[in-house]
Amino acid sequence: MSLLHTDTVDRVLSMTAAEKDDVLAEMETRAEREGFPTVGPEVGEFLRLCARLTGADAVFEFGSGYGYSAYWVAPAVGSEGRIVLTEIDAEELDEAESYFERGGYADRAVFERGDAIEIVDRYDGPFDLVLLDHENDRYVEGFEAVRDKVSAGGVVVAENVLNSGTSMTPGELEAYLRGEITADEGSTLDGIETYLSSVRADPSFETTVLPIGDGVFASVRI
Ligand SMILES: C[S@@+](CC[C@H](N)C(=O)[O-])C[C@H]1O[C@@H](n2cnc3c(N)ncnc32)[C@H](O)[C@@H]1O
Repeated sequence: MSLLHTDTVDRVLSMTAAEKDDVLAEMETRAEREGFPTVGPEVGEFLRLCARLTGADAVFEFGSGYGYSAYWVAPAVGSEGRIVLTEIDAEELDEAESYFERGGYADRAVFERGDAIEIVDRYDGPFDLVLLDHENDRYVEGFEAVRDKVSAGGVVVAENVLNSGTSMTPGELEAYLRGEITADEGSTLDGIETYLSSVRADPSFETTVLPIGDGVFASVRI
């Protein structure tokens, strides 16, 4: 259940949820069992919607874990498309590859191990969809590294912007917005605030916030 809305909203969202194949369902069960911070089904569906709306051929993900968010996008890019998954943890990336193989999507995925911000330098783009889901305090770095490689009409989605578990609860965010606390340099709160200011100040992008999952900023290149 999302911390960001009511039980009713959660129920309606689950009623409209897309069908999941066995592999995706297994990844979800695993996330629940292990407490792994995937984007969850609401954001997964939103990412797929973005891929369909942009007619995405190329997708880049900063922080892929074992591939849950990328797997949501995979059916929308088509067999000629490419999703670049990046992950610093080799074991998680191997798991992602194995889920993609089982689902029949390995042909459209590239699995890159290492720091996403260094990896993106090796790609020219253009990317139609980008997901920032690595360290929250490095979203600005990620955005700066990829911004020129986003196609016109392409979308950059940043995850965990309203809730980041113990490192930034919705209560802390509210207290910050009311001016009751300040954001320590290098904290998640500081990283998210700095990211939002920087992406909103960029005249090439229009940004909106969506209270789904743990909250996302979606920025479209205009
Ligand atoms: C929140 S999880 C990603 C979840 C994934 N997007 C999903 O929804 O299933 C964040 C992942 O980013 C990885 N990570 C953190 N910093 C990274 C970096 N600089 N480059 C690549 N991966 C990174 C972590 O190891 C972790 O697995």
